[in-house]
Amino acid sequence: MTATKLKVSVLYDVWEEEPVEVQEEVPAPRKRKGQTKRRKKVVKQDREEIFEALEKLGHEPSYYILDGRRQSLLGLAKCGADLVFNLTESYAGDDTKEMNVTAFLDMLEIPYTGSGPHANVLAQDKSIAKKMFAFYGIQSPYFATSYRGALDHAHDISFPLIVKPTSEDGSIGIDAAAVVTNVKELMERVHYIQTEFDSPALIEEYIEGREIYAAILGSYENAYALPLVELDLSKLPKGMPRIASQDVKFEKNTEAYKLTKSAIAEDLDEETTTKLSEIALKAYRAVKLRDYGRIDMRVSSKGEVYVIEANPNPWLSSGQEFAMAAKKSGLSYTQMIGEIVDLAMARHA
Ligand SMILES: Nc1ncnc2c1ncn2[C@@H]1O[C@H](COP(=O)(O)OP(=O)(O)O)[C@@H](O)[C@H]1O
Ligand SMILES: [Mg+2]
Repeated sequence: MTATKLKVSVLYDVWEEEPVEVQEEVPAPRKRKGQTKRRKKVVKQDREEIFEALEKLGHEPSYYILDGRRQSLLGLAKCGADLVFNLTESYAGDDTKEMNVTAFLDMLEIPYTGSGPHANVLAQDKSIAKKMFAFYGIQSPYFATSYRGALDHAHDISFPLIVKPTSEDGSIGIDAAAVVTNVKELMERVHYIQTEFDSPALIEEYIEGREIYAAILGSYENAYALPLVELDLSKLPKGMPRIASQDVKFEKNTEAYKLTKSAIAEDLDEETTTKLSEIALKAYRAVKLRDYGRIDMRVSSKGEVYVIEANPNPWLSSGQEFAMAAKKSGLSYTQMIGEIVDLAMARHA
């Protein structure tokens, strides 16, 4: 554990859609991985929990907000932090600029937690990540992408399929109609993704199976998988596709939310657990994640494992899967934050 007291700037971004009073010390709504633009404010934000953990660790935390104005960028350059705890997901509401923020911090030579710009590039566009997975022999569902008539594919794909935006997270664009079983539904959904999100559509084979998340802590050869977490979708009503839609993830008042829950996957046999953990680690490294990340997978009834996506800097809220896995491994929330701080500082030692 870092013995020295660090000035840690908890960095997050706000965007126009949710106007806030921008004062540097005041927490404000922000988009997090696994959180949609339509999401209502939660009681305690992850950044507040992280702030408190940093205090308990003996550090000196403060908040810094990137609000999309040049002024806030210039301020960041002069913030004087020993470490940035990076919770940004976008810049000025543009998710594709997540990588610009980390690249900016690199240029300023300010140490920061989590993945760097190269991982942002490789993991954010799911079709790029899937090409990396293929190179490393990591199984991921067969897919094609379609954008304004241009098609990119390497395999024949067959129904049922799931259609999603290539580069969103938080299940944006993923609802019951995302799973399609015929050409008409497919064409309609591709059209929807293109018009609604101005994004290429990722058309992927739908994998029936259990949904397992592997939280990974560490970097490169020293990364390791924490106990696996399952999102149990088996209780969803008949006819509703078993997917982690926006409702399942965030909409507390929906049936879908109430009937699903994440918990440590206690009943997986040792062989399956080892297989899932090893595949998750391979995927983590394939797209160059570091410090902490979460790999989303599906395992079929035959025990076949498919990587669905790799999440750099996943949501660290204490109720979420990453913290759940860390707790099961014996780390308190504060210790988990301490580990992430140490990993980031070690990179700059
Ligand atoms: N190929 C697939 N087969 C089965 N379910 C899928 C597939 N792709 C996505 N899903 C379901 O949709 C959810 C969200 O998809 P994901 O690609 O992880 O998007 P996000 O980045 O928004 O989390 C997954 O957690 C899973 O439940
Ligand atoms: Mg996901």
